[in-house]
Amino acid sequence: MKQRVQKVIANAGLASRRQAEKWIEEGRVRVNGQPVSLGDSADPDTDRIEVNGKPILVEPEKYCILLHKPVGYVTTARDPQGRPVVVDLVKNFPGRLYPVGRLDLNTSGLLLLTNDGELAHHLAHPRHGVEKTYLARVRGAVSPRTVQQLEAGVILDDGLTAPARVEVTRQQGTHSWVKVTIHEGRNRQVRRMFEAVGHVVSRLQRIQFGFLTLENLGPGQHRRLTKEEVERLKQL
Ligand code: URA
Repeated sequence: MKQRVQKVIANAGLASRRQAEKWIEEGRVRVNGQPVSLGDSADPDTDRIEVNGKPILVEPEKYCILLHKPVGYVTTARDPQGRPVVVDLVKNFPGRLYPVGRLDLNTSGLLLLTNDGELAHHLAHPRHGVEKTYLARVRGAVSPRTVQQLEAGVILDDGLTAPARVEVTRQQGTHSWVKVTIHEGRNRQVRRMFEAVGHVVSRLQRIQFGFLTLENLGPGQHRRLTKEEVERLKQL
């Protein structure tokens, strides 16, 4: 994002804004090789900014985006098969974006994306066990005994699942709506948990990640997390 050059220099910790303005007036500051005047702007992520002939190093600004992933998008930055990818939906953010974990092609809901690789790794790591809540529409009536089984743990081909919280919220016609909270993040975990107890998931949406919810974001919409929210995420 373009900012006043004196602000970029001050943010890089090189000098106060006033001192940076003095440097600009003295002709010591160049952007992409051209001397700048007071009031000029530059983008620290894409422009080369020099003071006394030395480039200044500015860490790219870190940000985290909450996206309501629609069905039909692949959780990646580029798909070899040319399918739509989640990063296409957040084009106005520069730099490389890392998804935090993954949602299947046919799963919708809350997905975090960040240019902070360390944060993405931290949040997706099973050791940190961030709670994720899903709303599943499954075929058939889910009995109290099945709820108990899912809560206690079911055996999948990659081992027993950890305890979960499971609540049937609605039973309508041939389908049930079930809220499932897990803190693992195995591949297709919720779908496989239901398969293990004899139910097919016909729709799946992630409605919560830690303390974050989808709020009023519609499919395909996103918002940037506040600094406070990012700090809270780091504590999870
Ligand atoms: N569990 C699934 O089965 N799919 C997802 O996308 C996420 C969790």
